[in-house]
Amino acid sequence: MQHHKRPPASLLFIFGGSGDLNHRKLSPALYNLFIDNWMPDKFSIVGIGRRPYSNDDYRKHLLDGIQQFSRRKGEQNGKWATFSQNVSYLQMDASNEADYQKIADIVKEKEQEFGEHPNVIFYMAVAPQLVPDIASKLGPLNICSDTKCTRIVVEKPFGHDLKSAHELNQLLSSMFDEKQIYRIDHYLGKETVQNILALRFANALFEPIWNKNYIEHIQITAAETVGAEGRGDYYESSGALRDMVQNHILQLMCMIAMEAPVSFEADEIRNKKVDVLNAIRRISPEEVQKYAVRGQYSDGWMKGKQVAGYRQEKNVAPNSTIDTFAAVKFYIDNWRWQDVPFYVRTGKRMNQKSTIITVQFRPAPFYAFPPEAAETWRPNRLTISIQPEMDIRLRFQAKRPGQSMTLNPVDMIFSYKDSYDEEEPEAYETLLLDVMEGNATLFMRSDQVEAAWKVIMPILETWEARPPVDFPNYAPDSWGPEDAEALIARDGHNWVNLPIQKQSNSTASVGSK
Ligand code: BG6
Repeated sequence: MQHHKRPPASLLFIFGGSGDLNHRKLSPALYNLFIDNWMPDKFSIVGIGRRPYSNDDYRKHLLDGIQQFSRRKGEQNGKWATFSQNVSYLQMDASNEADYQKIADIVKEKEQEFGEHPNVIFYMAVAPQLVPDIASKLGPLNICSDTKCTRIVVEKPFGHDLKSAHELNQLLSSMFDEKQIYRIDHYLGKETVQNILALRFANALFEPIWNKNYIEHIQITAAETVGAEGRGDYYESSGALRDMVQNHILQLMCMIAMEAPVSFEADEIRNKKVDVLNAIRRISPEEVQKYAVRGQYSDGWMKGKQVAGYRQEKNVAPNSTIDTFAAVKFYIDNWRWQDVPFYVRTGKRMNQKSTIITVQFRPAPFYAFPPEAAETWRPNRLTISIQPEMDIRLRFQAKRPGQSMTLNPVDMIFSYKDSYDEEEPEAYETLLLDVMEGNATLFMRSDQVEAAWKVIMPILETWEARPPVDFPNYAPDSWGPEDAEALIARDGHNWVNLPIQKQSNSTASVGSK
């Protein structure tokens, strides 16, 4: 058993306790933290929902989620019995102010049981439109003014646009101190995403060349094979740009582009990230067409299975103009990145599930090799695979074995699976532990969220003002609309798609497409 400092006593209220996020992600994460001995010595988890559940039935419901969705299936040698004793269900109507007294009573009861005042954490795993109402009813509860121990966790989407995000920030800050507010972006909890900081700032090798002098362009792809997944009602008011670019992709861009922090204090890291967001060049409405491409999937075939088009999905309008694909070319106006394009794309029903970041270096300044040596010559490239494979590859030229001088691109690969035996925690495990510990480094500050909205607002507004005429415009199992290829091809580049199968040793290059 590992020995490490565990968080202080914690009482976790999960609004949306009978919902999907808790079933698939939160309770498996909390149970895994328990198995790994990271949960506090004293803790209690209270699921809050409208549906009637006895405590026993609720625990059964959560165990079912763990069996289906956890990285560890099953009960883990009887640990479930101990863990689940700390889980209960509170049926209440979150819109009824009087019901909130029940929460205050539970806090008092647990305080007595624990013999100390625990962290009190309110997790908003509910539809975004319910958050303001719940938060304003929580505000007056005595416990919320305790800035050290009381925390509120807010899931994305954080607002629907800049205005609503700003209003939500104002509402929350009228009741909670910024230090109490944890805005989740689950990508920041992923191991490979955190490793970007280690790669860049724990090695002397990369930072000197991490700038416009050596880097030609950067790509970020977050592709998914799933479609609307029954979330049509949410997705219809969102779309790919809001759902993935405003948050996850811009956060990845910040990790790649930020300046070196002087410490690992939460605010220091967040200051450096917000600098990136503030430096992203605003795209004017007239230029949106040049810099951004949207798409929507049609019906078709996905790995041998017939699938519906977006417009035929449940709770989706038959003439919906919502984007299920978005690609954007960004620039960051600062000394480090001036004129280096950042191409980003994301889409549903794409050819493979993969999130990768590609750093394309500039070509060697001079090439002394004979022309026949250089037929397959490619500039250096660093590829960071976030998921499903977790690896980092550096492409460089090598001499092919044989009597002639022929060059060939090869990859040097660091693979998590080959290098470490430990199974990596899920993002939600890392983030929930951070909330209990009171570490906000991986969470979004109010100014970060608003700065990210400012970046995408011109695109959103232009798209909304000019409905697309060509939707649906890409087939399932593809890489999105043709215009997305043109967006990058105009600059003489290709999107990089990695082969899905794993390569464990240094192998021939994966090619440029
Ligand atoms: C969520 C989006 O934030 O991220 C979903 O709302 C998307 O639409 C999901 O499917 C992707 O997350 P991951 O971790 O599977 O890449």
